[in-house]
Amino acid sequence: MATRTIGGGRWTNPLRDPRDKRLPRIAGPCSLVIFGVTGDLSRKKLMPAIYDLANRGLLPPGFALTGFARRDWDTQDFGQIVLEAVKQHARTPFRQSVWDRLAEGFRFVSGSFDDDDAFDQLERTVQDLDRVRGTGGNHAFYLSIPPGAFPVVLKQLARSGLSAQDGDQWRRVVIEKPFGHDLKSAIELNEIVNDVFPEDSVFRIDHYLGKETVQNILALRFANQLFEPIWNSHYVDHVQITMAEDIGLGGRAGYYDGIGAARDVIQNHLLQLLAFTALEEPTSFSSSELRVEKIKVLNATKLVGPLDETTARGQYTGGWQGGELVRGLKEEEGFDPNSKTETFAAITCEIDTRRWAGVPFYLRTGKRLGRRVTEIAVIFKRAPHLPFDSTMTEELGQNAFVIRVQPDEGVTMRFGSKVPGSQMEVRDVTMDFGYGTAFTEVSPEAYERLILDVLLGEPSLFPVNEEVERSWEILDPVMEHWAAQEAGPDPYSAGSWGPKSADLMLARTGRTWRRP
Ligand code: BG6
Repeated sequence: MATRTIGGGRWTNPLRDPRDKRLPRIAGPCSLVIFGVTGDLSRKKLMPAIYDLANRGLLPPGFALTGFARRDWDTQDFGQIVLEAVKQHARTPFRQSVWDRLAEGFRFVSGSFDDDDAFDQLERTVQDLDRVRGTGGNHAFYLSIPPGAFPVVLKQLARSGLSAQDGDQWRRVVIEKPFGHDLKSAIELNEIVNDVFPEDSVFRIDHYLGKETVQNILALRFANQLFEPIWNSHYVDHVQITMAEDIGLGGRAGYYDGIGAARDVIQNHLLQLLAFTALEEPTSFSSSELRVEKIKVLNATKLVGPLDETTARGQYTGGWQGGELVRGLKEEEGFDPNSKTETFAAITCEIDTRRWAGVPFYLRTGKRLGRRVTEIAVIFKRAPHLPFDSTMTEELGQNAFVIRVQPDEGVTMRFGSKVPGSQMEVRDVTMDFGYGTAFTEVSPEAYERLILDVLLGEPSLFPVNEEVERSWEILDPVMEHWAAQEAGPDPYSAGSWGPKSADLMLARTGRTWRRP
């Protein structure tokens, strides 16, 4: 039997033989409380993920889910909302028997965040669950709420005794980004969080780390001999990390206006992807060893300047995208018609280590771009000498190794090959690995993996506050530089690949962005 310490408590999983690491990991007795159950994230991701976990048999039999919101609902109304969310967004097929068993553990507490009585009621509910469902005093609190509400909810959790861990029991808090809006506010927020929950009970969600393809970066790099010798500045010319979305921001003004693409995506998802791509081999994959390496590489990551030339920001304007006439950001509902919020952001970083010195890492993200794609493209230097007639190699680019994070998850390798015929003509070809064809298992949703890891107390895939603060430290000078500009972001048409300034940013170094 596998016994270990999790978030202050010891738990024995009777179903797991520690010798077989392939057996599914099943959470021990516990419950999850969600604040912000009426929000989009909760309906589209969290509730469906909980059902999918139940359907895969990964939740304990007495698992309980409590919703907390201002709505005047009872448990049945809440159940109905979860049911709709599951039917619409769950990944796995609907099975009535699974649903019925899961729904027995639902509870709902109505109240606002400043309502002491509501939190006392929540405390009683949780105690009752321990008695009726056998949740063993183990409870996770998921704050799927605007960051402005974190302090009051955390204070309430402390005041009502909900955050107090007793003996072998555990209490954990899950927080969604944004973790602050700059270094200063992140430090303040981390202090507030750590006043109530010790750092090993805090799970900060960066859902990119829950993606199979992101975890596969480590497998590719460290399970193989092929890549390591060339994974450095001797062979790599530069790295492009792209997260492009084709959707606009209609309906998200409340969160996004004033935040922008760099804070929304570069500070977290893209810097985490950079860290996975560039870190040194951890001595083991224990969470502490992995973190040490991530922090080391983030500490060595520096912006390249001058920022006028090495960064770019844009804002989408209306136009035709994929046969549809779409609005520009300033016309989107709820946005300030003079909004200077960027919907496209690109920055240049370098990593001051022996492995990476002099290799630019270009990070870009944007809304309303040509298509939805996230990828990491490692672009290699050209061969030092080509023993071919130069007219025969006109269609030969630089070798590339591209990790396709999504969609069409997999890896592409690009290299030159002889074109069939009597001439020694060389042209780029690609070799592909696709998850869809290589494996029969379907990848779980990121939130399934992450929620399960919270319940298991497995912290590897959650950034610690040091990583969060370091990421702000990297990004803050860019935000300050942009804020000091009179002009707003450069316009780009919906459906394009960003503003001209982004192309210019790379052109200055003789490079071009990949068109994924
Ligand atoms: C979120 C951002 O973290 O990631 C959103 O706040 C973005 O703006 C989303 O749309 C994209 O997630 P995914 O998994 O679809 O790439």
